[in-house]
This record gives sequence, structure tokens and C-alpha cells, in this order.
Amino acid sequence: MAQELSEVSMDKLVSLCKRRGFIFQSSEIYGGLSSAWDYGPLGVELKNRIQRFWWREMTQLHDNIVGLDAAIMMHPRVWEASGHVENFTDPLVDCKQCKQRFRADQLEEEAQAEHKCPECGGELTEPRMFNLMFKTHLGPVADNGSLVYLRPETAQGIYVNFKNVHQTGRVKIPFGIAQVGKAFRNEITTKNFIFRTCEFEQMEMQFFIHPSEDGKWFEHWKEARFEYYKKLGIREKKLRFHQHGPDELAHYARIAFDIEYEFSFGWKELEGIHNRTDYDLKRHMEYSGKDLSYLDDGKKERFIPYVIETSAGLTRTVLTVLSDAYTEEEVGGEKRVVLKMHPLLAPVTVGVFPLVKKDGLAELARDIEANLREDFSTFYDQGGAIGRRYRRQDEAGTPFCLTIDYQSKEDGTVTLRYRDSMEQVRIHRDDLTGAINNAVKEYKRES
Ligand code: GAP
Repeated sequence: MAQELSEVSMDKLVSLCKRRGFIFQSSEIYGGLSSAWDYGPLGVELKNRIQRFWWREMTQLHDNIVGLDAAIMMHPRVWEASGHVENFTDPLVDCKQCKQRFRADQLEEEAQAEHKCPECGGELTEPRMFNLMFKTHLGPVADNGSLVYLRPETAQGIYVNFKNVHQTGRVKIPFGIAQVGKAFRNEITTKNFIFRTCEFEQMEMQFFIHPSEDGKWFEHWKEARFEYYKKLGIREKKLRFHQHGPDELAHYARIAFDIEYEFSFGWKELEGIHNRTDYDLKRHMEYSGKDLSYLDDGKKERFIPYVIETSAGLTRTVLTVLSDAYTEEEVGGEKRVVLKMHPLLAPVTVGVFPLVKKDGLAELARDIEANLREDFSTFYDQGGAIGRRYRRQDEAGTPFCLTIDYQSKEDGTVTLRYRDSMEQVRIHRDDLTGAINNAVKEYKRES
């Protein structure tokens, strides 16, 4: 029997991610770049699988949501219209002594009141508003005329294409446009691994509706997005809603709820669901001079649609999945580290091991693996004791492992071992694809 030992700490997760090739510090050989991270062989597979899961959930399963992939750099007027040039700011303070910089609104009450640095106790400067958008220049001349921003949210690419999509995509209100892509914010980042980074990925969907239906659609998407995280395999007890108070609301939002996850460093935002009203389309009409209103042919009514936005962080979801999956157990007096993530997300679905290399078992295992490759991502490993090979795959989150032994040569059966329960069953190689597909579909995490 396995006994659960402890919950994940961020240090343990960072170390596992490096050990198994999920996530590395950026530019590590040069001493690293603070708060920038690279996704290794397992990390990129996990991130791609989460993205595919979201994309299927938000486009394929609906007949009124279509996709878009807009450019990262947009006309600079977009960000004036969106309000980001004026409003997308954080209040920052500097310590006059140790020179560290902090967000004034995130300092503990005491540090705020006393104006003292939380690290060294030195005196803090008065808060200054600092815009979070990264600036660069298009073309060789760095003057005001060539200024562009790296987008701080993917949403604006959708709003400026609203007319293009509804005119060409044969979609009628209510309909949505979904997009996944990089976003950039020049943030003061904390020490929480990939939680808050300056370069990250978002998965956003903007749902265009008649203004009279905003309450109904807001509720719909709020509930649907909560259910999505349960489907993704995240434990429900670690999820909750948080409604934004008047001081927290972004400049574009009338109502906003976050879905939060309980990380080892506390409850934090994972996704935002916002009622953005007609704020963005109206502003783009004003700044571009183009008509972005919508004509309902049936009702002969022209209006500016409202938008309900669902905005999730892809890289933040990677951290959520890893944090939620990380488990330490005691098995037979030894510690087992296992990532109990949903099999659909696991970077490797099936580990294939010959009991020994000799007597044709390696060749047989290679042959079985080759057959499974058509349907699953596989990993072949013939090095070390079987127990150690299982443990390596447990740490990678591999939900199924096969061992090929002498009996396999005789009757074509292999041992199929399940990651979470460590249960082992004997099964014919011809039945593997069906059994694994079934187990993926039926998967339910027990603890
Ligand atoms: N378009 C709306 C918007 O961008 P947001 O609440 O600022 O809303 C949405 O961001 C999501 O993007 C967050 O819930 C989070 O998952 C992710 N996110 C935002 N800033 C991030 C950062 N610096 N690093 C990683 N993820 C971030």
C-alpha cells in the first residue's frame, strides 16, 4: 500500500522539472536570466497537450467558436484604443538602501504603512506608476514613428479582427473567437518558478453577444470554465472562484471572477472571466474610425456586441498541472515521487521495458513499442533494474508501463502496470491499444 507523505513544495517541483527535463532556467550556462524559463523535451509535450486540450474544448466542441492566430506586434494605436498605454500600470517603489524594486500594492500592510523595505528595512521611495508593456522599434530607425509594443494580452488581436471573422467565418452572434499565443509584461516577478513571468502564453476566448444577454452568458462561461479544470484532472478541492472587488477590476471589466488554484504559496489566479461590455469594440471604432457594429438580419437591429472573455494562462496551467500532480508516497519503506496527471496530458503515455536485454527480449519489446507508436507517445528503456525504470517513469507522469519477459516470447502476453495504483495485469499484446485507450477515457484520480 502507498501512503501519501507530503504536498509539493516549489523547491521540490523545480528540482524534479530540471531532473526530468520539463523546465530549465533560461540561459543557464550564462548564470540564467531571472524569471525566464525554457521548456525541455517533457515540458514542451506537456504544454502542447494542455494547449490541444483547451483548443478542443473551446473550438471543436462548439459550432459557434472559431480560431484565430494574430500577430504579436500590432499597430501602436491599438494599445491607445485599448487603454493599455494609459492604464496598464503598476505602482512601484524602490529601496534606497538595497536598490530592490517592489510593487507598492503587494507589500505587506506594515511595510506599506512604515514605508520600509521588506528585505533590508531601508527607506522606500514614493510609488511611481510604471507601464507594463515592452516597447521596441520596427525597422532600423529607433524613433517615435517606429515604436511598437509586444502585446500584453492576446485579446486585442481578436477585437481588431472582429469584422474580418464575422464577415468571412459565416458566424452569427452569439459566437466566439479563440486564440492561443505569447504575451509579454514587464512585471516585477516573484520567486514562484513559472507562475509570473515576463514572457508567457495565454489561451483566450472572446464571446460576442447581444448586450441584453450579458448576465446569462457570463454565468454560462463562469461555470463552463470551472468544469474545464475538473476535466483537465485538477482536484476540485484545490479550485475556487474569487470575485474582483471595485479596486481589483481591470480598466475594461465591469464584472470579473478569477478561478484560483491553491498553490504551495497560496490561492492564486489561474484564469479570469470578464464581462468587458462593448468597451473594446467601441474604443476601436473611436480610434480607427471604422464601423464595428453588428447587424442582426432577422431582427433588423444594429448594435455593438458585448464581450464575455475567458482568459487562461497556458504556462500558468503547466505549473498548476505539475503542482497538482506531484505526490510523494511511501511504498515498501521507500519514497516514491509520482506525477499523477491526467493520462491525456502525460508527455509519455506508455513506457516499454524488456526485462533483460538478451535472449531476444529487447527485439520483442522494440517491436511492441513500434506498434504502439501509431497511437501513443512511447518511451523505450532497457537500462537498470525494472523497479528503477518504473520510478523514472513515475516521475515523468507516464501512466502506463509494459514489461516484456520470457513468457511474452511464449504466449504474446506482457505485464501492464498502472502508474497511480501500481497495479499490474497480464495482457495480450494485441489487446494493449484497446486497454490503454479505455483506461485513458475512464481515468479518475483517487487521491
Ligand atoms: N485579456 C485579459 C487578461 O489578459 P489577465 O487576468 O491579465 O487578463 C489572464 O490575464 C491570465 O493570463 C491570468 O489568469 C494568468 O493565468 C495569465 N497571466 C497573466 N499575467 C501573467 C504572467 N506575468 N505570467 C504568467 N501568466 C500570466
